[in-house]
Amino acid sequence: MKAMVYTRYGSPDVLELKEVPKPVPKAGEVLVRVHATALNAADWRLLTGTPRLLRLMFGLFRPKHPVLGADVAGRVEAVGKDVKGFGPGDEVFGDLSGSGLGGLAEYVCVKEQALAPKPPRLAFEEAAAVPMAAVTALQGLRDAGGIRPGQKVLINGASGGVGTFAVQIAKALGARVTAVCSSQKVDLARSLGADHVVDYAKEDFTKSGGSYDLILDVAAYRPFSEYRPALAPEGVYVLVGGHFSRILQVMLRGPWASRRGGQRFRALMAKPDPADLAFVSGLLEAGKVMPVIERRYPLLEAAEALRHLGQGHARGKLVVTVRQEPVPSSPSA
Ligand SMILES: NC(=O)c1ccc[n+]([C@@H]2O[C@H](COP(=O)([O-])OP(=O)(O)OC[C@H]3O[C@@H](n4cnc5c(N)ncnc54)[C@H](OP(=O)(O)O)[C@@H]3O)[C@@H](O)[C@H]2O)c1
Repeated sequence: MKAMVYTRYGSPDVLELKEVPKPVPKAGEVLVRVHATALNAADWRLLTGTPRLLRLMFGLFRPKHPVLGADVAGRVEAVGKDVKGFGPGDEVFGDLSGSGLGGLAEYVCVKEQALAPKPPRLAFEEAAAVPMAAVTALQGLRDAGGIRPGQKVLINGASGGVGTFAVQIAKALGARVTAVCSSQKVDLARSLGADHVVDYAKEDFTKSGGSYDLILDVAAYRPFSEYRPALAPEGVYVLVGGHFSRILQVMLRGPWASRRGGQRFRALMAKPDPADLAFVSGLLEAGKVMPVIERRYPLLEAAEALRHLGQGHARGKLVVTVRQEPVPSSPSA
């Protein structure tokens, strides 16, 4: 089978399209014929091996997992012993970050638990765009943020992969949403249902006295103390992504800063969770949430997709199409 492989950390230029053995599912595993894979910031970090601390877990000298791609959608080709929930032909999607990645390939073996049935109304490329970004947004808003209907919620970094889901999920959960993004993406944030949009080039929301019950920060590039004036007295700040130094700062000092007053500061480490993916599937099926896809790339151009992702200004998700759906032939007269 064809796979986009990398054997050393570096720029997208280290990726090579190679012929590799098709995997065989072990007990508890499902062999998925991959139709589409969506990229996440995690793929960029694993490609470049940065921050270097990450190499302790993912390969000190060379990458432990030679094929990137955590979010996949495809069709079950075969199942290993003891697989109960899926059979050949089933359409599935899931986040493989807990089971070795491998989505940038024609086939991947996945633990059964990482998969869920693909929502029927979504195409494979749309479904692939969902798992990691949407579940992260859900866990940030609901679990770390304790979101409640009627609350004032601000999403900083609202126009990327996680942010576009966060705006829609917060609205679906009954919040009044302020989205923060760049000038070019103000229309996108409005189209997702944001009640108010802040263009960060024109306005600093931390200086406008917003008094938000919850700030979900997908783009943390400054000390978390600067968010205090924008938070309600008992407001919660949840850091999801941004600069590594800011993440460390909230992890180390957030608990201490939270004890000093009513405001709380947390860093989220999202985890793939089939129940959360099922919850998101419900929102997708109900038409309350839809993935935003900026661009689709063929597998051969996965490096190009990663290069764009690495610039940090994607408009929603970037998807790699691994297998084009065959167009059904029209019945002959
Ligand atoms: N904690 C977890 O478990 C977890 C899980 C998934 C992802 N993450 C992290 O979350 C972050 C975002 O992931 P993603 O997939 O959404 O990335 P993404 O698709 O690349 O989006 C990043 C977004 O950040 C916005 N941005 C950049 N600079 C900004 C600024 N100064 N102010 C406001 N927005 C700014 C960009 O929007 P503009 O173009 O409009 O500037 C872009 O849309 C990454 O750091 C990732 O590692 C964490």
